[in-house]
Amino acid sequence: MRAKSIQVNPARHLRGQIDVPGDKSIAHRALILSSLAKGGSVIKGMGIGLDCLATEKIIRRMGVVIERREDLFVEGRGIHGLEEPGDVLKCGNSATTMRLLAGLLAGQNFHSVLSGDRFLRERPMSRVTKPLTMMGAKIWGRKRGHFPPLSILGSPLEGIHYSLPIPSAQVKSSLVLAGLYAEGETCIREPCQSRDHTERMLRFLGLPIEQDGPTVRVKKLTSFPGREFSVPGDISSAAFFIGGAAILEGSHLRVFGVGLNPTRMGFIDALLKMGADIRVHLKGKKSEEEYGEIEVRGRRSLEGITIEGDMIPRLIDEIPMVAVVSCFAKGQTIIKDARELRVKETDRIRAITTELRRMGAEVQEREDGMVIEGKGYLRGAECRSYNDHRMAMALIMAGLCAEGRSKILGSDCIDTSFPGFWTTLEGILIE
Ligand code: S3P
Repeated sequence: MRAKSIQVNPARHLRGQIDVPGDKSIAHRALILSSLAKGGSVIKGMGIGLDCLATEKIIRRMGVVIERREDLFVEGRGIHGLEEPGDVLKCGNSATTMRLLAGLLAGQNFHSVLSGDRFLRERPMSRVTKPLTMMGAKIWGRKRGHFPPLSILGSPLEGIHYSLPIPSAQVKSSLVLAGLYAEGETCIREPCQSRDHTERMLRFLGLPIEQDGPTVRVKKLTSFPGREFSVPGDISSAAFFIGGAAILEGSHLRVFGVGLNPTRMGFIDALLKMGADIRVHLKGKKSEEEYGEIEVRGRRSLEGITIEGDMIPRLIDEIPMVAVVSCFAKGQTIIKDARELRVKETDRIRAITTELRRMGAEVQEREDGMVIEGKGYLRGAECRSYNDHRMAMALIMAGLCAEGRSKILGSDCIDTSFPGFWTTLEGILIE
């Protein structure tokens, strides 16, 4: 069990320029779709976070040759070229790997089993197994398909029209991938739009997809050639540094080559609404994804805000860091409609409330979010990560902005998404 702990001393500023690892969501999708292409693809800018490595290893186990040099070279085997894996497919801690692959594997002509670490095995899967079963998939899991491991006997599928009860890009993408193997049209509607990387990547590959806000329609896949994918920097990883720099007066940070897809920009929008000094410089589009530079200067005068509704899916992974920033804003920050946080890598509502309270914050836990009374400071404390990479990184940033020394227990989980986090931090830290 990985569980290292880390001491964090207060920082004065964050100053300099950084790159962040390739966007995790986009990387998973590029790996999956390039394996189905006819011939070679190149994936540029892929990180080495454990979640994406899990997807990469699984694809190799189904007979796809992948070579890792500076970029990743994937020799796609065509739409019916994947091979039956000889063993259980290990998704590690990655729900994206499991949910997306469940959709892909449902329509193959072989049997497969998806499992994961003890945390992933407690995360809900009926949100994908239920609609996939409606499409004709044969999937079994613990507790009537609710929990992994998932055993999937590939079968002929039929398109369905399905309304998601909650916005979820993982569920939407799982059904889109199944829809690529189904007869007829698959139409998926969300209550509000979640990240749309799968839709953009299908368009980039010239595959038929219709996207009308929160509604997506796909048809059966025909053969397509490999391409060169560019993965921009992950805004969810950048968010920790952007948030820290926004809190620490006198900071000046520039993040280069970061993804600026509007469905992922909720954190920046929330900080701007709080009064942060952030500038976004759009540079262009690669592989259908906007990218550019984000520049932030630290200010003392942030204000509390309300975050709810359509905004939530646009910053769902950044909420632990939003909570940290809110402690330094004046007045109340209310986060609601975010019940989904209870079934992430850990129950993030409970976890962030508990840990920020240890640091002297006034936070009330609500069923679907939290209320934070910004006091303008935190005090150093000993905190736990709950084996959740985003909790660990948010608490480290909280520790840097706090008065006195902190200790974060269980910091190794950062490798899930950001193995170079420390080196990046050391390059901009002014103590
Ligand atoms: C992701 C979707 C989101 C997000 C996760 C990555 C994706 O999950 O929290 O980190 O790549 O599709 P949900 O679909 O469960 O909201």
